[in-house]
Amino acid sequence: MSVSYSKENGIFRLDTANSTYAITVNEGYICHLYYGGRLCGNDDLRYLLENTGGPFRIQDNIRDKANAMDSLPFEYPCFNTGDYREHALEIRDSYGSFACDIKYVSHRIYNGKPETEGMPCSFEGEGKAQTLEINCLDEAVGLEVMLLYSVFENSDVIARSVVLKNCSEEKITLRRVFSASVDINRRDFDMITLNGSWARERLVSRSPLHMGKQSVDSIKGESSHQHNPFFALCSHNCDENTGEVYGFCLMYSGNFTAQAEVTQFGCTRALIGINPLLFEWSLEKGEHFTAPEALLTYSSEGLGGMSRSYHDFFRRHVIRSRYKYSERPVLINNWEATYFNFNTEKLLSIAREASKLGIEMLVMDDGWFGHRDSDNSSLGDWFVYKEKLGESLKPLVDEVNSLGMKFGIWIEPEMVSPDSELFRAHPDWALRIPNREMTMAREQYVLDFSRKEVRDCIYAQIKEILLSANIEYVKWDMNRPLTEVWSAELPPERQGEVSHRYVLGVYELMERLVTDFPDLLLENCSGGGGRFDGAMLYYSPQIWTSDDTDAKERIAIQYGTSLVYPPSAMGAHVSDCPNHLTGRTTPFETRGHVALSGTFGYELDVTKLSDNDKNMIPTQIAYYKKYSHLVREGDLYRLGNSANNGLWDCWMFVSKDKSEALLTYVQQYVTPNYPAPVIRLRGLDSDVVYDADGRALTGSALMNCGLAMEKLWGDYKSRLVHIKKK
Ligand code: DGJ
Repeated sequence: MSVSYSKENGIFRLDTANSTYAITVNEGYICHLYYGGRLCGNDDLRYLLENTGGPFRIQDNIRDKANAMDSLPFEYPCFNTGDYREHALEIRDSYGSFACDIKYVSHRIYNGKPETEGMPCSFEGEGKAQTLEINCLDEAVGLEVMLLYSVFENSDVIARSVVLKNCSEEKITLRRVFSASVDINRRDFDMITLNGSWARERLVSRSPLHMGKQSVDSIKGESSHQHNPFFALCSHNCDENTGEVYGFCLMYSGNFTAQAEVTQFGCTRALIGINPLLFEWSLEKGEHFTAPEALLTYSSEGLGGMSRSYHDFFRRHVIRSRYKYSERPVLINNWEATYFNFNTEKLLSIAREASKLGIEMLVMDDGWFGHRDSDNSSLGDWFVYKEKLGESLKPLVDEVNSLGMKFGIWIEPEMVSPDSELFRAHPDWALRIPNREMTMAREQYVLDFSRKEVRDCIYAQIKEILLSANIEYVKWDMNRPLTEVWSAELPPERQGEVSHRYVLGVYELMERLVTDFPDLLLENCSGGGGRFDGAMLYYSPQIWTSDDTDAKERIAIQYGTSLVYPPSAMGAHVSDCPNHLTGRTTPFETRGHVALSGTFGYELDVTKLSDNDKNMIPTQIAYYKKYSHLVREGDLYRLGNSANNGLWDCWMFVSKDKSEALLTYVQQYVTPNYPAPVIRLRGLDSDVVYDADGRALTGSALMNCGLAMEKLWGDYKSRLVHIKKK
């Protein structure tokens, strides 16, 4: 890994183990030269600028400046000065003009990785980093723009961010500040995005790029169930193992835009950043604004290569929790077991039975506070529901601890119920617009987390609860999107800041929580997987992946999520059947196998389970103890997908030293008179002899000829196969 600048040819180069990113300055403009496979020589890549669509060099013909501006590959494209493609930066100056145009001023190359102020960002962690800082200026307006690029010694991910500073005397209004833009001199790509809905999050969409703009975004105040702040551009022939792919991932949990534009000259501009809708930021003299970080990666080893790069990066450089590689306590959550209908006795009956089976933590979900018996009250009143649980949580927690189990709770700090003491005392603490009716969703309103006093009040209550008993886990939920985004604390001209300030407020509170309770296991959640993004991983080593725990559906959700995020971060539980969301019945064993590819836990009433199912729990827990290190630390290879082959899914985790692997095979659909597949494995050592399902086979045979699966009797049957060096 290195960052270099060649005085000879004026080229900045960012080299990772397998990729190169090159930038130059052309007549003051910061131009993108190349991003792709690692270059070995010190070639003068400036010839690439000549092929950007026409013989447009700015100095050749001033009257054609607009053409040059519209075809040059820019590192950080601006608006209203001749580049008509989608832009990364848009401002409004004191004249009311929208124009901006940034030019190179200076640069710095240094060891280390700067923080992104007030926001989650990557850090050196397990491996050194180097940073390139390019300082630019829009002289006419007096706006400084700092472009930051960091590379890491053990990663193919490049972290980009942008800091803007107003060095003029007048106010500058920021209307759009994207985090990254990359002009690639090709258009033969497919665009991959992760889309869905509640209980159907992050399903993979793939389609060829067409002329013009194509994008996904969120305007819901969270990264959302519908789209994820990520996209990939890959060659048409790209599959799991081969082909080129570029990944763009935003470390942000609020409104975002992820976009590709195919231009008139057959180039592709890829952009990612805060959604310009509902965004406007006043930058007074001397003030600065920092955009969230974007994580870019390039792989020539297909989607699998991209995913493994991101997985390692999140584990090594984003997740801070001490739990990131460690075994998590096997938990049982009471949500699907009881919903709101529980009390001390019910929880203890679950805990007693669970502890006998080897389950290690009881998580008390929604309904323990205020007077909450359904979703229509008490959010904001974070004190114990006495009629259900007594004066304090301590006796319950002590009793659970005495069974040898840990204890965790659910919270939803960002919300308030109209029927709550908090809302009655502070109706203006919710997001609302004067003279406009508030939109209710799930019987609740959203608190104005851009306001410190609101966060302080919520945090004080939660802290008191966490100190009142031995609570070792928290599930932080968020069950509705934002509406009527407006803050009573800000003047009219600053209302465009509220969405972003809200997200900063959430980050600030999460930071307080993990600072005050460093050993707490925090799991994020948003009505299932509505806020599964890289930024959340900075605070919590795991995120609830989806409310859909149906094993069949979960495979597709976990498959899509794994394109970017490490399986070790995916909250995954075994629940009861018929499944509460689909009515489908899948074998208990398969539900276990699917959950074992995530954090692993249970979400059912263990006191009501059949003996047959119950008896499988100790075995599943034993598997977790034996194999979960492969999920937590290993490399993921997706070997087959029933969406493509119609019959089965298969994936494997391989240890970093390639001595061991865990393969999960799920036969989705059984058809008579048709053999079980022979599946070609990946990631093993060719020369090593492995014990693979009772056969001694070399890695070479397993990867080229494959492992023969046995035919299983019935739909949704599954197998785990442990493969070990002999
Ligand atoms: C949504 C979560 O995804 C569920 O697991 C559960 O915690 C409910 N909220 C509780 O309201």
